[in-house]
Formats: sequence, C-alpha cells, structure tokens
Amino acid sequence: MSEVALRAMRWWDIEPVLALEAELFAQDAWSAGMFWSELAGATLDPPLRDYVVAQAPGEPGLAGYAGLGVAGDTAEVMTIGVTGAHQGTGLGARLLTRLLRGAEELGCAAAMLEVRVDNEPAKRLYHRFGFRQVGVRRGYYQPGNRDALVMRKELAETATHGSPEDG
Ligand SMILES: CC(C)(COP(=O)(O)OP(=O)(O)OC[C@H]1O[C@@H](n2cnc3c(N)ncnc32)[C@H](O)[C@@H]1OP(=O)(O)O)[C@@H](O)C(=O)NCCC(=O)NCCS
Repeated sequence: MSEVALRAMRWWDIEPVLALEAELFAQDAWSAGMFWSELAGATLDPPLRDYVVAQAPGEPGLAGYAGLGVAGDTAEVMTIGVTGAHQGTGLGARLLTRLLRGAEELGCAAAMLEVRVDNEPAKRLYHRFGFRQVGVRRGYYQPGNRDALVMRKELAETATHGSPEDG
C-alpha cells in the first residue's frame, strides 16, 4: 500500500470524498457545500485551508483525505479519514504528517484538533504525533451527546513520526 499517492484536493474530488464521509462519519458526514467552502479557503492568499487526498493506483475512489484550517498562528485539523481497507497501514500518519508540514510552512506555531472521546484509533494516532489533551467539550458530537477531547501540539517540537518521503 506504500504506493498510495498524496495530492492536493480539487473540486472533482468532492464526490468521492463524500462517499468516504458517508462510510466513516455516517450521520456526522459533511455536505458537499461544506467541502466547496473549505476548498474556497484553500485558494486564498495566504490560504486559510489546506486539503489533501490519498489515491491508490488502480483503485476507484479515494483511500483517504485530510484537511487543515489556519487561524492566525494556530492550525486546526479539520478532518482526517482513511477508508477501511487502508486503515492501519500508516496512511493516517502520512496524511497527518503532510498537514502538519503544511501548517509549519504557513507559519503556524501550534496545531489543535477535536476528537471523540471514544475514538481510540484516532487518539492513538494523535498521541503518537505529540498531541496532548488541553480540554474537553461536553456533548460536542450530536446526536449521541459524545464529548470531544481538545488536543494541541506545539509545532516547534514536530518530529518525524510519519513517512519522510511525503514532502
Ligand atoms: C483515525 C484514522 C484516520 C487513522 O488512519 P490509519 O490509516 O488507520 O492510521 P495509521 O495506520 O497511521 O494508524 C494510526 C493508529 O491507529 C491504530 N489503528 C488503526 N486502525 C485501528 C483499528 N481499527 N482499531 C484500533 N486501532 C487502530 C493503529 O494501530 C495506529 O496506532 P499506533 O499509532 O499506536 O501504531 C482512521 O482510523 C479513520 O479514518 N478513522 C475513521 C475516521 C475518523 O475517526 N477520523 C478522525 C476524526 S478525529
């Protein structure tokens, strides 16, 4: 699976991204309009968004995707997802490495994210990258009334946790 390629998300990726959203996030799935709005933010100068997709050669659809938001000197991991067949292969780590490199290039000093308190694979990934819990948002995920952990990482301490070739 190492041949999975990462590239910038374009408007024509929205449809396959929505298929992944439905697979991974069910009732929390983002709409097409939300992705159009996010991609508009990526065209600004300087960009306020940075979205990437992962494509496996010979496979229909996308293997994964991830997006970053920028507010001042702080970046936010807006979303990250890997299709079931590619989970556990390190693709999530590659996507996150790419986002954090982008955040550093945009001058961000820290990255933040929210993660469902019961999302163990995602929490493991973020811990491995040096994200630390800084708060809890009670009932952040609705329906279901699940709490979100708020996590933060200082980018100055970024190490090589992913695949260095993913420049
Ligand atoms: C979170 C996610 C993006 C990680 O992607 P991935 O390609 O599996 O990531 P990696 O292969 O780099 O593995 C990340 C960690 O999750 C663990 N993991 C992966 N799949 C797992 C599973 N099904 N059950 C338990 N742990 C799992 C890996 O062992 C690894 O742990 P480690 O860092 O201690 O070695 C992916 O699981 C996913 O898309 N989940 C659904 C969407 C989601 O929850 N997104 C995050 C929202 S905050």
